[in-house]
Amino acid sequence: MTLILGLEGTAWNLSVALVDESDVLSEAVSTYQPKYGGIHPREAAQHHATEIKAVISRVFHKAQETNPEFSLGQIDGVAFSQGPGMGPCLRTVATAARALALALKRPLLGVNHCIAHIEVGRWQCKTNDPVVLYVSGANSQVLAYRAGHYRIFGETLDIGIGNALDKFARHLGLSHPGGPKIEALALQGTSYLELPYVVKGMDLSFSGLTTAAKETYDKMPGARADICYSFQETAFAMLTEVTERTMGHLGKDEVLLAGGVGANQRLQQMLQMMCEDRGGRFFVPAKKFLGDNGIMIAYLGLLMLTSGSITPIEQSQVRPNYRPDDVEVTWRE
Ligand code: ATP
Ligand code: FE2
Repeated sequence: MTLILGLEGTAWNLSVALVDESDVLSEAVSTYQPKYGGIHPREAAQHHATEIKAVISRVFHKAQETNPEFSLGQIDGVAFSQGPGMGPCLRTVATAARALALALKRPLLGVNHCIAHIEVGRWQCKTNDPVVLYVSGANSQVLAYRAGHYRIFGETLDIGIGNALDKFARHLGLSHPGGPKIEALALQGTSYLELPYVVKGMDLSFSGLTTAAKETYDKMPGARADICYSFQETAFAMLTEVTERTMGHLGKDEVLLAGGVGANQRLQQMLQMMCEDRGGRFFVPAKKFLGDNGIMIAYLGLLMLTSGSITPIEQSQVRPNYRPDDVEVTWRE
């Protein structure tokens, strides 16, 4: 058995977990709540710096509760989110990871956060070679594995779908994160209002849609639920279209949904229907594996360690713009 400690802190969620090949031993989370508006990177980093010691201690205590034999010496490696993400947050968590790796005399594993979202989904859903729709706050990408890399087949040209939902929600006076609140309001919507549907080749754009939704709301505040409904229908149809075209191009018949926006039931339903129509299969892991979490970081760290991809300290600087297609995938055939 290989046991990995994973540290996640790319944005507002600080999350630490202990994971081995078959199970999650323990996990603990502390979430930064902005007093108003969106995430302030420096405030979030300050939150992580203040909380990290307590969160790591909680993970160790919980591991001891479930398994009295547990000791720090059993940890085989320390994984952390190297990027992409907010620089100040990444640096805080990377510093803690380096210190732990040195203290425990164990290898350091610098993890790409996007690939971690994908691999935890493959692990949980047991899907081998899916087209992945990765939708979170900052990211919206359609990826698939090919010849040693996760290739990006389509992505947003401006903001991620999660940020689009969060921005629109803020305009409605709703607190962060806005995605779940828009989802709840959308359920009360009954009529579809035309909003910009922007797919360019295989890429997507959400900023025009967000602006149009805000303007529609300013003109018709009473139509709040209908606008939320129309926003979701438009954006999710765009994402489903690009996912389906990727399946067609590559001849793949499985889809895996990853990232925080993946919790949305309507998005899940659209992808499920699209897959059924094509005779394919749709996979989505349990909600706790969709949003940012330390489990996915520990799990990808485990795959990296067992396939020989360790990160020397001198190459462990954070990478705020780390692209998933930059990662050499050493753990797949
Ligand atoms: P990344 O660095 O991968 O972009 P992230 O920091 O955005 O990650 P995630 O937890 O992956 O974090 O995703 C958070 C996003 O998911 C937020 O924008 C939030 O509004 C959105 N979200 C969460 N639940 C739902 C939902 N039910 N419907 C729509 N969006 C949701
Ligand atoms: Fe994420």
